[in-house]
Amino acid sequence: MALGLTTTASITKKTSVAFFIKEGKPQFGVKSKELSSLTQKGLGQLVKLEAKGSSTATFLGEDSPSAVAQIKAIPGLDESEEIRMAAYNLGLELKKQGLIKTVILVSDISSSNFTAVVEGLLFAQYSFDTHKSAKSKALPIQWKVAISETAKKELTAVFKSTSKIIAGVETTRDLVNEPGGSLTPQIFVKRIQQTFKDDSRITLKVRNKAQLEKEGFNGLLTVGRGGINPPVMVTINYKPKKVSPAAKGTKLGLVGKGVTFDTGGISLKPPGTMWEMRMDMGGAGTVIGAMQAIADLDLPIPVVAVVCLTENRPGVDAVLPGDIFTAKNGKTIQVENTDAEGRLILTDGLAEAGLQKATHIIDLATLTGAIIRAIGMSITGLFSNNEELADKITQAGAKSGEKFWRLPLDMEYRASLDDKVADMKNIGGDAGSITAGLFLQEFVPENTPWAHLDIAGTAFTTKPWKYYNWGATGWGVRSLVNLTEELARDKNSKNK
Ligand code: BES
Ligand code: ZN
Ligand code: ZN
Repeated sequence: MALGLTTTASITKKTSVAFFIKEGKPQFGVKSKELSSLTQKGLGQLVKLEAKGSSTATFLGEDSPSAVAQIKAIPGLDESEEIRMAAYNLGLELKKQGLIKTVILVSDISSSNFTAVVEGLLFAQYSFDTHKSAKSKALPIQWKVAISETAKKELTAVFKSTSKIIAGVETTRDLVNEPGGSLTPQIFVKRIQQTFKDDSRITLKVRNKAQLEKEGFNGLLTVGRGGINPPVMVTINYKPKKVSPAAKGTKLGLVGKGVTFDTGGISLKPPGTMWEMRMDMGGAGTVIGAMQAIADLDLPIPVVAVVCLTENRPGVDAVLPGDIFTAKNGKTIQVENTDAEGRLILTDGLAEAGLQKATHIIDLATLTGAIIRAIGMSITGLFSNNEELADKITQAGAKSGEKFWRLPLDMEYRASLDDKVADMKNIGGDAGSITAGLFLQEFVPENTPWAHLDIAGTAFTTKPWKYYNWGATGWGVRSLVNLTEELARDKNSKNK
């Protein structure tokens, strides 16, 4: 990340300036005071970008303008989201034109739209080049966003917090993009330790296989049996120095599915798109990125994150279809299909969140292919036993352009999980994502508001989508941070 902040007053050198304008003002650019004063100073190239409507960016060269970075208005997206995309396209264009030292002038803009500008530019800077011999990150990008003196205080705070949140998103993307062979459960643990090192507010508890056995976390052990690299559970406790009055008595629990590679196990997946299953630790990756941002922002609310890390492989000792194990809460489960492994490891994650006394639990998982068939790749499936929590999550998503759609945990489908020999089996009937949610619900600690987010469609993209190029999106980090902020927000305070 190389994005800085400056004020219009400090733009004096001859430099490239991208001019970004708030929504739909027809007279933008030419009549703007800032712009004319900049042109008087003889500043070089100007990029005008209209955020609304057909969102066209125009380069003004010496004389004649040449059009670049066109984005089309996409029905169903709100204004901030269009601005995010416009800023992203502007960023890509600046990169393409080699304008690595650029000032982007932002004028007359609300905090939420400014957040969108910063996010879009930072998304344009992201690339996963760990395994490339030519590192694009080595490009000395030095973009600065210029704001007016009057807006300095407010927008500086927004800039700082947005940068921290996007750093969390990048942590998630780097983890999720990593192939299964180079991100084993053990390497994942090292990355977590690295992320949270030297932070006295954070304690890590790492349970290895022997400890999982001792404590009866059998879901993770059952799935991990076929792997070469043993399963691990990591619990991350964040205890802020100060807890806001609104957050007194609240402890948010975030639980993540961390299957570092999902071959399907003995119920082997077809080879065609199996490589994508590197992203099956997307839930765990999202939880880690969100936790990083929550701690960086010093949010005044206790949060515990639990990630269940394992491979799902057909090894010599791999769990067989039909095998039965006893989950942490005492229920017996017949593993009818070893490819429905996410729900098995989450039985342990949910149990651990309960042991950690989480008052609200949200689990994130790339859980079912069925969610993609139901609602596609742009929307996350939301399941919850609590109206208020479900609404808060949806609202938190709307603030960051991340869409959720709530699906029912209809008890009529619960019977399809009944088994002949065990208490339950791990696959149900037709409504694959709903039965997966109903399965998880059986393992939620009693009387705890809980939500399950099925991010199978949204965590990873194989084609350019909005402000994502290819691969891991880090989808959900921004929503989780917004939600955590909301849970900590004192209702009588002036800050919204
Ligand atoms: N990790 C997959 C779900 C998935 C599919 C994530 C596509 C991302 C993209 C999960 O473990 C799985 O294999 N689920 C099965 C469940 C079935 C066996 C009941 C599925 O969705 O096919
Ligand atoms: Zn699977
Ligand atoms: Zn899976």
